[in-house]
Formats: sequence, C-alpha cells, structure tokens
Amino acid sequence: MRVQATMMQTGLRPAAPSDVKGMARLVDLYARQGLLLPRSPMDLHRRLDQFLVIEEEGRLQALGSLLPIEKDLAEIRTLAVALEDQGRGLGHQLVEELVRRGLKRGYSRLFCLTREPGFFATCGFQRVGLEQFPEKVWKDCCLCPRRERCDEIAMLYTGGILP
Ligand SMILES: CC(C)(COP(=O)(O)OP(=O)(O)OC[C@H]1O[C@@H](n2cnc3c(N)ncnc32)[C@H](O)[C@@H]1OP(=O)(O)O)[C@@H](O)C(=O)NCCC(=O)NCCS
Repeated sequence: MRVQATMMQTGLRPAAPSDVKGMARLVDLYARQGLLLPRSPMDLHRRLDQFLVIEEEGRLQALGSLLPIEKDLAEIRTLAVALEDQGRGLGHQLVEELVRRGLKRGYSRLFCLTREPGFFATCGFQRVGLEQFPEKVWKDCCLCPRRERCDEIAMLYTGGILP
C-alpha cells in the first residue's frame, strides 16, 4: 500500500512519549506566530494517541492530530512542519494519513479550522461555514479566548487525495 511505503520512507508514525519535548517545541514556535493554538507538554502527553509525527534521524520534523468530536465528526488539527522541512510534501503526507485513519475509524466528516486554506485546498478540503459543526462550537469554540475575533476558516474534506 502506498501510504505504508511512505510511512517507512519518511518515518511517519504514531507519536510516542519521547516525542513530547520536540512536539511542544514545534507547536510553541507556531503558537507564538498565532498560527496554532498553544499546547502545553502535559496536554500533548494526555492527547498523545491522537497524534502522528514524522521523524528523521531522531529529529522531529512534523506533527498532526485527529481529534474526535462526535460519532461521525473528527477534526484535523495541530498540524505543523518544521521550517527547514516545509515544501517537501510532509504536510500532505500527514494530512493524507490522518484522513485515511479518520475514514477507517468511521468519521465520515473530517474538518479543520485553519489560517492556511490554500494548503488544505490542495489536500482535498473545501471551505464551509463553521455553523456546519455546532458540536465543535459548543465543545471548544465557546471556551476559546479568541472566539469573538476568530479568523480561522472552516474546511471540510471532500475527497480527492487518497489513491
Ligand atoms: C501548512 C504546513 C503544515 C504545510 O506543510 P508543508 O510540509 O510545507 O506542505 P507540503 O510540502 O506538503 O505542501 C506544500 C505545497 O502545498 C501548497 N501550499 C502550502 N501552503 C499553501 C498556502 N498557504 N496556500 C496555497 N498553497 C499552499 C503548495 O502547493 C505547496 O507546494 P509548493 O512547494 O509548490 O509551494 C506548514 O507550512 C506549516 O507547518 N505551517 C505552520 C503551521 C500552520 O500554519 N499549520 C496549519 C494550521 S491548521
């Protein structure tokens, strides 16, 4: 299978406790720029089973997660690729594998909230209204400090990247 080959070639795998330090560093880098929501090492540790990472020779290059929201709804979030590794297809590989896992687990609706709509459009996502995901709004958005001035764009996976 194509993705299994990709996983072996790129070191794409589920996150392990030893990854948390590198994951926290990467998230912090982009959280400071307002591109990701901040995540503490403890939070990452607690949600480790939701994360995939890409590692090369002991260096964490990328991470991404799949957060279940409802029975049929999951969110792709906290996606980040180290600056020096961007533009090499790692972001696409992570999204492809997260989508594959999400669909396999029965989540028929996979969405993201992002400030990078162009990237997610190339991954098979289309812009939609956040009102399509009231479960997300009630669970997370209500608690978010940026809820009144949210500039994230909701996008739904509509197919296309999987072989
Ligand atoms: C967005 C991000 C994950 C993309 O990862 P990546 O590994 O660089 O992406 P890939 O190499 O798989 O794909 C890059 C391609 O996607 C497309 N792309 C990427 N960002 C894009 C954007 N903002 N608009 C349009 N197309 C974009 C381009 O076609 C690009 O190809 P190019 O080399 O011809 O420019 C990465 O830039 C990142 O970590 N950004 C900071 C954190 C962030 O914003 N995360 C998303 C929050 S949900």
